[in-house]
Amino acid sequence: MNKPSIEVNYDELIPNNVNLSEDRALKKALEAWHPGYIDWWKNMGPEGFQEAQVYLRTAVGVDPAGWATFDYVKMPEYRWGILLAPKEEGRTIPFGKHKGEPVWQEVPAEYRSMLRRLIVIQADTEPASVEQQRHLGATCPSLYDLRNLFQVNVEEGRHLWAMVYLLQKYFGKDGREEAKALLNRRSGSEDRPRILGAFNEDTPDWLSFFMFTFFTDRDGKMQLASLAQSGFDPLSRSCRFMLMEEAHHMFVGESGVGRIIQRTCEAMKAAGISDPNEIDAIRKLGVIDLPTLQKKANFHITVSRDLFGAEVSTNGANAFNAGLKGRYKETRIEDDHQLENDTYPVLKLEGDQFVIRDTPALTAINARLLDDYIKDCQAGLNRWNKIIAKLGVTFEFSQPHPAFNRQVGEFSELSVSPDGKLMSKESWQQQQDQWLPSESDLAYINSLMKAVTEPGEYAGWIAPPKEGINKQGGDFEYVCIDPE
Ligand SMILES: [Fe+2]
Ligand SMILES: [Fe+2]
Repeated sequence: MNKPSIEVNYDELIPNNVNLSEDRALKKALEAWHPGYIDWWKNMGPEGFQEAQVYLRTAVGVDPAGWATFDYVKMPEYRWGILLAPKEEGRTIPFGKHKGEPVWQEVPAEYRSMLRRLIVIQADTEPASVEQQRHLGATCPSLYDLRNLFQVNVEEGRHLWAMVYLLQKYFGKDGREEAKALLNRRSGSEDRPRILGAFNEDTPDWLSFFMFTFFTDRDGKMQLASLAQSGFDPLSRSCRFMLMEEAHHMFVGESGVGRIIQRTCEAMKAAGISDPNEIDAIRKLGVIDLPTLQKKANFHITVSRDLFGAEVSTNGANAFNAGLKGRYKETRIEDDHQLENDTYPVLKLEGDQFVIRDTPALTAINARLLDDYIKDCQAGLNRWNKIIAKLGVTFEFSQPHPAFNRQVGEFSELSVSPDGKLMSKESWQQQQDQWLPSESDLAYINSLMKAVTEPGEYAGWIAPPKEGINKQGGDFEYVCIDPE
């Protein structure tokens, strides 16, 4: 295998609060893994910008008041660190059959393979999204957005490091093999795809990127929040810190779509168009009409919902029972946190009716997390709707019915419209262009994707942000594309 060509001082290269300098076995494992990671980044990371100087945030500590620094850096030289949230003295397992026992600092033998699987699945999503987004630099709507894309990308890289740290430190030889395999799978590949469906979809344009960071990164947030409850303390501490970065990814998605909505509504107003369905007239203004945004949202919402797995699931029950993966905001839920005798209302199809049925709560862990996700999405949609209302346009974004366009779980075999009508497959296919982006919608979006790289300038289909990153001014050069 390829050895590092230069001597790398891993103590200094990798910001860490895990005593890396004193853990020789771990250092050795990381030294063996690092060159492959850099190769992966150079081949599969942002295309065409490996030499650019990018104004990036780097996590250097875990103090909430000052955990990151901002500076120009070439992405392959980014300092991907291993940072865990501080240890909470006396922490006990918050749920499941070991509830109340001290948390584990080592992997419990009986749960080893289940735990490894949970970590690998989370880990696999991190490099996958970098691969999906690697061509977007060529069509950035501004340097500000380009920088945000790269910030998300390097942080997904750091999340991979966070998970690989756990695999290499706690899972011996098979952990090292999993770490290697994480660099070998490829998003969208026929023979070695990424593990989960949404992470093999294309991210062909910037609208897709913003929708992805809003809806799919939000799945990531929900998963991390559940793993942050884990009785395996190193996993809990890793995920708690990752959630601090994830907040920025949510921001990029929400504000990105918000700025597109704002620009569309402003252009409609200026042109005297009040009906959001005058699609041709609106597109002539060079902005993205609201119905197309809704269709894009429908697509990203439904592939992201599939990431939660089957609503009723024994795997979910087992991981909860074992104390490995909890519920969203577990410690704030008022029940016994063991759920042996509890039920949870789950939406099901009976005959040709959707009904809500009380289901054993343990098997409905995934259903509950999906419900929490839908609520969390709705709060963002409501904020988008406020932008529309404020600009005097009559239109509201909504989320499709839970059974619409699903490939995984309870409803995967059904053909259901966004408003919850069961129909034949043929009829669904005939109407799908009204609900999901059509070829011509995608072609129109694609036609808008032209790079804007003058500092302070923005593509015509997106409004400038309200404020800069780290309080930088409007014409700040977030990315120096060709540094001398
Ligand atoms: Fe991530
Ligand atoms: Fe993320």
